[in-house]
Amino acid sequence: MAIITTKPKGTQDLLPADSHKWQFVESVVTEEAKKSGFSMLRTPMFEHTELFLRGVGDTTDIVNKEMYTFLDKGDRSITLRPEGTAGALRAAIENGLVHEALPVRIYYLGPCFRYEKPQAGRFRQFHQFGVELLGPAGYAADCETMSLGVRILRRLGLQNVSLQINSIGCKNCRADYQAALVAYFDQHKDQLCETCIERLGKNPMRILDCKCPTCQALAKDAPTNLEYLCDDCKTEFEHVKSQLQALQIPYVINERIVRGLDYYTRTVFEFVTGELGAQSAVGGGGRYNGLVADLGGPDLPGVGFAMGMERLVMLMEKQNAPFPEKEVCEVCFIPMGEQAVQKSAVLAARLREEGFAAEYDLMGRSVKAQMKYANRIGAKYTLVLGDNELAAGQANLKDMAGGEETAVPLTEEGLLEVLYQKNIDRMFGDIAEAAEQMNSQGE
Ligand code: HAM
Repeated sequence: MAIITTKPKGTQDLLPADSHKWQFVESVVTEEAKKSGFSMLRTPMFEHTELFLRGVGDTTDIVNKEMYTFLDKGDRSITLRPEGTAGALRAAIENGLVHEALPVRIYYLGPCFRYEKPQAGRFRQFHQFGVELLGPAGYAADCETMSLGVRILRRLGLQNVSLQINSIGCKNCRADYQAALVAYFDQHKDQLCETCIERLGKNPMRILDCKCPTCQALAKDAPTNLEYLCDDCKTEFEHVKSQLQALQIPYVINERIVRGLDYYTRTVFEFVTGELGAQSAVGGGGRYNGLVADLGGPDLPGVGFAMGMERLVMLMEKQNAPFPEKEVCEVCFIPMGEQAVQKSAVLAARLREEGFAAEYDLMGRSVKAQMKYANRIGAKYTLVLGDNELAAGQANLKDMAGGEETAVPLTEEGLLEVLYQKNIDRMFGDIAEAAEQMNSQGE
């Protein structure tokens, strides 16, 4: 196919037939974030490359292999954001949010870019919803963010997503753990991939994340981090666990979670599913004390997480989780002739003002073709408008499901009155049906 009609590899078109699914997920994550006091932050989709080198870490796969980096026309090195945290923190520092009332609670939603090998659930352009909570140093904030993630998953109706937690310690105890890792991997150096040999000298924890099968096999027997935690980190992790228990949030400890970004300290976590093939994480995050200072801000601790919107939608589809219905056209006007089109436009405008979805023909089609269209879009009612109806000031509102017709006056208020009445009747009908169902279940 010609390149001009083909999307770039690893990208997706969100088609009109699916857009309501995305809008639903977007509304749920937004509502839940707001309920926990988070406000939206929108940052540029590209930043100075330096921000990600510093913010994500120059020993990570993201920085080394996956960034979309280019020189702009002013010879500045620019990178399309591979994740949301670095940009969010940059904006919080640059705009002084970190000096306002603490904690800073921000959420964001938007595209990210990673030059990865595309496969199911892994894209080169994907969308993240994320939150960052800056200020609090303690475990309560870790659990506050995790509980937001859990609430979102529940509200989306998702099943079998486990919250996996770990602690990767602080600057002090991590040194001991890294030394143990170096000692272990050094013995098996000949089996490590080239990148991991380099990692051994720079950041041995990254080896645990390597996708290469031989490194993965070695990683299985590598020392685990929890036994190297200092007393403070141990106590903090105990608090995290008991707070999650108090919140009745089930979790699994997974010492293999080290996360693919360099900024984490202490608590790290992922929301994991077994139903999306190799891409098991629908979300992930953790604490990052020190990152705000590293990026030129005050020494503020922070914690946050991000979820992949594509993966949330895919998992919902896979599990047949309920999406709300697409917005349905309440009345599809079927005009014949110019005057009728004009009248339809006026009536449709009034219905829309009142919150009803309405359409009318703009193609000059026959009544039969218009009826076919009304059927296809699933319109609840149609209203045929011809010269006779205009002259009489009255037309028939046809219920497309049942077929019955109701005479309605061709005035804005007259039509609205009938529609309101029909909606009330339908609501009572639904309630009666639900009651009947409950009764028959009880019998
Ligand atoms: P991350 O684990 O790299 O963390 O990404 C978060 C989520 O984004 C993943 O769990 C996954 O659902 C989704 N995701 C990542 N890469 C792709 C991809 N190529 N295609 C589709 N979905 C993808 C972060 O980005 C951290 N900034 C999270 C965070 C926020 N930590 C603290 N605050």
